Amino acid sequence: MTPDGSKGLYPPSDEYRKSAVIKSAEEYEKIYNASIEDPVAYWTKEAEQIEWFSKDWKDAFTWNKRTSEFTWFKGGKLNVCYNCLDRHVKNGLKNTAAIIFQGEEDDDVKVYTYGRLLNEVEKFANVLKSKGIKKGDRVAVYLPMIPELVITLLACTRIGALHSVVFAGFSSEAIYNRVADCKAKLMVTSDGSFRAGKKIDMKGKVNEVLEKDTDIKTVIVVKRTNAEIFMEDDRDVWWHKEMAKAPERCEPEIMDAEDPLFLLYTSGTTGKPKGMVHTNGGYIVGAYSSYKYVFNYRPGQIHWCTADIGWITGHTYILYGPLSFGATTLLFEGVPNYPEEDRFWQVAEKWKVDLFYTAPTALRMIRKSGDEWIKKHDLSSLKMLASVGEPIDADVWKWYHTVIGGGRCPISDTWWQTETGSIIIAPMTGAFDLKPGSAMKPLPGIETTVLREDKTECDVGESGSLYITRPFPSLARTIWNDHKKFVDLYWSAVNGYYLTGDGAKIDPDGDHWLLGRVDDVISVAGHRIGAAEIEAALISHRAVAEAAVVPVPDEIKGEAIYTFVTLKNGFVDSDELKKELINQVRNVVGPIATPKTIQISSGLPKTRSGKIMRRILRKIAGGGKYDDLGDTTTLLDPKIVESLIEGRK
Ligand code: PRX
Repeated sequence: MTPDGSKGLYPPSDEYRKSAVIKSAEEYEKIYNASIEDPVAYWTKEAEQIEWFSKDWKDAFTWNKRTSEFTWFKGGKLNVCYNCLDRHVKNGLKNTAAIIFQGEEDDDVKVYTYGRLLNEVEKFANVLKSKGIKKGDRVAVYLPMIPELVITLLACTRIGALHSVVFAGFSSEAIYNRVADCKAKLMVTSDGSFRAGKKIDMKGKVNEVLEKDTDIKTVIVVKRTNAEIFMEDDRDVWWHKEMAKAPERCEPEIMDAEDPLFLLYTSGTTGKPKGMVHTNGGYIVGAYSSYKYVFNYRPGQIHWCTADIGWITGHTYILYGPLSFGATTLLFEGVPNYPEEDRFWQVAEKWKVDLFYTAPTALRMIRKSGDEWIKKHDLSSLKMLASVGEPIDADVWKWYHTVIGGGRCPISDTWWQTETGSIIIAPMTGAFDLKPGSAMKPLPGIETTVLREDKTECDVGESGSLYITRPFPSLARTIWNDHKKFVDLYWSAVNGYYLTGDGAKIDPDGDHWLLGRVDDVISVAGHRIGAAEIEAALISHRAVAEAAVVPVPDEIKGEAIYTFVTLKNGFVDSDELKKELINQVRNVVGPIATPKTIQISSGLPKTRSGKIMRRILRKIAGGGKYDDLGDTTTLLDPKIVESLIEGRK
């Protein structure tokens, strides 16, 4: 395949196009237009592709715009685990690989067929039941990327318990906040994990969390690193011992489509993470349908999504999307650059990976280490590539296409969020000549619009705020225990439109260009971190009077964290203090939130009403020219700006 020089577009090869679910722009338009004309009919048809115990919903969709409550397929009965496992075992995939686990050590490999995985999941579901876990209970999961993680999640969905996965890079305080908010009764963790050749302690962190008051009565511990750990009598039990005595069979719980399936916490503009609530019916329909359209999976192929299951990408495209589709999904424990810079490519070659899904931050890091690491490997098995988490600029896109995809593999730049549960905007790679840097078109059933601050519609090519015009099945229903916040954050800007929080523009071809967050959320290596969370961590330090946190562009991570701090009287700026403040953030929020820079300043730019002018701080943090700071006349003390610029140098 060669790029179409005249337009700078990248058409898929005829061979790829033929194998795709949607094969032409005309076909997409036909499906898309019909789906927007009658979204309920469209989504009902998609829902029929999964297996229901009963499809007795009265209305496929209900929506109370006043309260921002909506339902999809309410009254329909199903089980997500049944759809991911039993259904395929029944339909002839019993001996087909569901999961290929590739550990950090190259010979640490386990293959779980659909039959074997179902077996393990049923047993673990019985373990959960034996510990008193039942439908509606919350189970906290703090595990490395090992098969037990997938088994735990599916076992929860089998018995109707809600899993809440906490990313392994979070601090014990962040774990505590998440566990306490949802009142989890049980936790699954491991003695430790392997990361870049090191043993990382996990149980120790859990022990710290459980020193505080929580509802956790049982901790199930997987033996992974054989580290010496403290086990509390009457509370902590070993996974392998419980599994050895668990009964084999466990019938799936019959769930209503609108029963919650899982919680996943995400950072927002306030200091407190939000537990997004996803439902059984809507989520699995969205995961299945988007997987089908975006990845064009064919039987026998190997799908590899490099995300961590602690994030929504891992939930939907390592686990629920591929498994509901009957695909073979690779679960990878390692990192891109250990033992050497070519680890991804060595794994892709070894397993003959067909579909590869990663984040721009990983691509930038890999590109920096040099193409020779990639060229050492035969990547001819790759058919399609995808990207998620942040904008992928045209330059990295073209490099991904040429060097990793051998000029042969189309790239899907997929835009979505924890809240949306599944991919929302992405090119159907068999249908379009691809446009580097653009996520292109919404998936069928999704209608977007870009609005100005005054809520009028933007012209073609004009940047504004991205909205989705109505609820779709996989959209989160609420924030755990805080529906008011859900309404305020997502539905109150324009009544009936879902506010994404991202900037975007739509070009004359109807293609979407995503422009990053418009709120105070920072995307470090594609992971969302609320500025407010970091500020709260800093302010809790004895020396800090005030703090403001803004993103700065970063060559590898996309964005890095820049903090402005004013000190209380009696404290002075020193390298030691800065180190302490960095550690404070690492301890309270987690290592993923480590600030790149701490600038101590005598004050912060504020409006007369006391609001910190982040717009100005972003510019100052970014460096470069300061002649375009915008309107500073509303500032209480315009001189502060000069001293901040001075302090930046
Ligand atoms: O700003 C957008 C960015 O990531 C945010 C969602 O983050 P999270 O909920 O952690 O989910 C990440 C994985 C789905 C969005 O609001 N984002 C995600 N994908 C893209 C993106 N920005 C630009 N292009 C993308 N493809």
